[in-house]
Amino acid sequence: MPLLIPTGKNTVMDSSLAYEQHAQSYLRERDKSPVGTRIVDQWGRSLRDGARVLELACGGGLPITRTLQEVGLQLWALDSSPTLAAEFQKRFPNIPMQCAKVQNSDFFNQRYEGVVAIGLVFLLTEPDQSDLINRVAGILEPGGRFLFTAPIETGTWRDMNTGIECRSLGQQRYRKLLQNAGLTVTKTYADVGKNNYYDVVNTR
Ligand SMILES: C[S@@+](CC[C@H](N)C(=O)[O-])C[C@H]1O[C@@H](n2cnc3c(N)ncnc32)[C@H](O)[C@@H]1O
Repeated sequence: MPLLIPTGKNTVMDSSLAYEQHAQSYLRERDKSPVGTRIVDQWGRSLRDGARVLELACGGGLPITRTLQEVGLQLWALDSSPTLAAEFQKRFPNIPMQCAKVQNSDFFNQRYEGVVAIGLVFLLTEPDQSDLINRVAGILEPGGRFLFTAPIETGTWRDMNTGIECRSLGQQRYRKLLQNAGLTVTKTYADVGKNNYYDVVNTR
């Protein structure tokens, strides 16, 4: 997914609008893709059974939410696309779900043992990425875990689902932002699609 291709002229479009516009084509492709399931399954199993986990940008819930559910976590979820959120609610009627942007969500006003953000962080502007890291730190229990995808490299590329510009702040900057928020990267992983995952713990 995140091949680092220079984008030339910027496409200025909010990621939430872009995904809403491409929701049906995105669902068609993602529903049948297993990318990320092995890592999410392993991460989920490393939390206690029944741990409280918030999934940011859950999309239609396949395959990531289903994997998190199958390993026995207690889930809350949010996504900004009304079409994807409606599909999610049909598929997972027992998971509390908000249709909201991460920038505006109250994250259900509670704390979590885990937060997951697959395919989200690099869709946001740099200030929004930094702000999100701080807000995630604020809702994680001590020792709580944050799993998110973003490249190791710094750069921009076009999102293959929507064509909008994505930006990776790069490993050094992510580690620094996380550290300033009281979070520490314990491991990184790569999946079959060559996406990089940061496995992070709240060390405060
Ligand atoms: C690449 S998809 C990943 C979906 C899901 N995590 C998965 O791996 O299948 C990106 C998702 O982010 C959502 N999204 C984009 N911008 C968002 C924002 N500002 N707040 C919340 N969700 C957002 C989109 O609607 C879409 O579902």
